Amino acid sequence: MLVLGIETSCDETAVGIVEDRFAVRANVIASQIELHAPYGGVVPEVAARAHLELMLPTIDRALVEAGIGLSDLDGVAVTSGPGLVGALLVGVAAAKGLALAGDLPLVGVNHLRAHVEAAQLQYGELEPPLLALVVSGGHTSLVVMDGDGSFRQLGATIDDAAGEAFDKIARFLGLGYPGGPEIDRIAREGDPAAVAFPRAMANDGTYDFSLSGLKTAVIRYLRKLEAEGTEPHLADVAASFQEAIVDVQVDKSMAAARAEGIERMVIAGGVAANTRLRARMQAACDDHGIRLLVPSIGLCTDNGAMVAASGANLLTAGVTADLGLAADPNLPLAGRADAASAGGGTTRSGPGRAG
Ligand code: KG4
Ligand code: ZN
Repeated sequence: MLVLGIETSCDETAVGIVEDRFAVRANVIASQIELHAPYGGVVPEVAARAHLELMLPTIDRALVEAGIGLSDLDGVAVTSGPGLVGALLVGVAAAKGLALAGDLPLVGVNHLRAHVEAAQLQYGELEPPLLALVVSGGHTSLVVMDGDGSFRQLGATIDDAAGEAFDKIARFLGLGYPGGPEIDRIAREGDPAAVAFPRAMANDGTYDFSLSGLKTAVIRYLRKLEAEGTEPHLADVAASFQEAIVDVQVDKSMAAARAEGIERMVIAGGVAANTRLRARMQAACDDHGIRLLVPSIGLCTDNGAMVAASGANLLTAGVTADLGLAADPNLPLAGRADAASAGGGTTRSGPGRAG
């Protein structure tokens, strides 16, 4: 079974092709990073326009990379939410066009689920119950994949997403965009205990996160040094900021695994590329007897193969969408596997966030 997956929820125009649910035949990403870099973040209108220009060439490249034609496909999957509505619409429209032209089944995929199911492309069948920490530019969520394959959200950020916090602080420190990799890099030279930044909601008994206070604390610290005429030690600030984020993510993940009696965990999303998070989570999982699955960086960040994998799972379960499939910027991570594929002719409106 060959499934093509389209991902346009944020700033990557991505198309992947997956064979028999586990094998990546193509994974093409047309990044828009350079377009958004001058703004220090993703500009929704710019993203939607770029998706429109890049969509068809990216589909073509994926088919060439896989060495197949449209007629060889068995289904088309697309991220229908959550994400930026204008960006999502481009992918959903393209997927409908392909499905119609190739007389193929169409399936709508939840972006968060796809981040988690990306792990099956590296590790094979995922064995539930499974805990997943999805940390990206648009999300910081702890979710569980239950024994019946349904997904449940345990908690999420109540303000900034982790990647968003990395990007904003990097900008404040005068580093490039996206800021996560820059902070990760310079933090290696710094002392994570140099500055005691707050760990918001660390011990509140929930699985929610809050990062806006940390962001403010870092900015206030830098302003104070500036007022005193002291040069900040950037590596120490980066390492201490990163540690505050990682501490809470690791502690809450372990608390969730214990409470839910879960022995397998996935970390996914762009921030899962963070070397400190990977190392600390691995150490904590080793201590707790949990098997940690960490997809390669290309499968962690937004990509089309993860959408194809998630779509292939749904198609195998008999789930399809009709041509009324809507882009839903706030698509919930519902329990039922087919939630993203529910019809509905119109696009639901809402602010939406980058995925
Ligand atoms: O999943 P992703 O590619 O796109 C979204 O759906 O947002 O994640 C992008 C985010 C950016 O905020 C970027 O700064 C962050 O992931 N990121 C990192 C690292 N690499 C990417 N954050 C921390 N450390 C990294 N090494
Ligand atoms: Zn994402």
